[in-house]
Amino acid sequence: MIGVFDSGHGGLTILRALTQHLPHRSFLYYGDHAHMPYGERSSAEIVDLTRGAMEYMFQRGCKLTVMACNTAAAVALRTLQQTWLASDYPDHRILGVLVPTVEAVTGVSWLADVAPVSPDKPRRTIAIFATRRTVASNAYVEEIGKRAPEIDVVQQACPDLVNLIEAPAPREDVRAAIKGFVAEMMEKLKGRRPEAVMLGCTHYPIVADLFAEALPADWEILSQPQLVARSMGDYLGRHPEIDTLDSVPQLEFLTTGDAVSASGFATTFFGKPATFQTL
Ligand code: DGL
Repeated sequence: MIGVFDSGHGGLTILRALTQHLPHRSFLYYGDHAHMPYGERSSAEIVDLTRGAMEYMFQRGCKLTVMACNTAAAVALRTLQQTWLASDYPDHRILGVLVPTVEAVTGVSWLADVAPVSPDKPRRTIAIFATRRTVASNAYVEEIGKRAPEIDVVQQACPDLVNLIEAPAPREDVRAAIKGFVAEMMEKLKGRRPEAVMLGCTHYPIVADLFAEALPADWEILSQPQLVARSMGDYLGRHPEIDTLDSVPQLEFLTTGDAVSASGFATTFFGKPATFQTL
């Protein structure tokens, strides 16, 4: 069984792609609805909450978990991997959403870590929309910059968008908010056309159509769920010991919040009904 974690419903967009890509795996989903949005929390709080969630999933038997939350992955993953995981759970693994995204954007393996110096490469631009905390962490800028220094990463924080999505707020309100964030991004781009737009928050794919509507018509929007699912498939192929294939795969959905409201809204993210239980 593989653990999938998010602050709320956003990780269900990743889980949906994972179940399609890996139909013989069982998954345990953990939504920390009681403490979302993480994008407005301090780094210390995010590290603590995320460690608690990982520990719960490890104790439920998941040797592999996915931080299907950009904010948690950007702020807490490296800290947890280098300290707590190494000392307390050395045979467990946590994968994040940042690694496959950075690899896809740069075309450089995560393990390469530092790019070969080649000053002649033409400049490239990537636009990223994410939560306030992900943007403040600068994780995407740093990790992409290490591997592909020719890429300019232009970031736009979307404060409160996760709240609007989870509420759920009327579509017109979400549309207006996104229009505003896109307008701010266009100002930062100063006429440059990015080769891709990354929705760097797992909540945003369900409003990808509203981003597409607000952005110039032919701009490519990258799908993080597909990138993560493909990368997870590769990882499991290289590490068959970490999880077993199930002929009757199980799906379990847990929330720290209210199970009825979490279940009610899950279909929008997961594509089919998901019945949550409160932890
Ligand atoms: N879904 C999370 C992400 O990918 C953010 C949600 C939050 O702010 O809680 O960043």
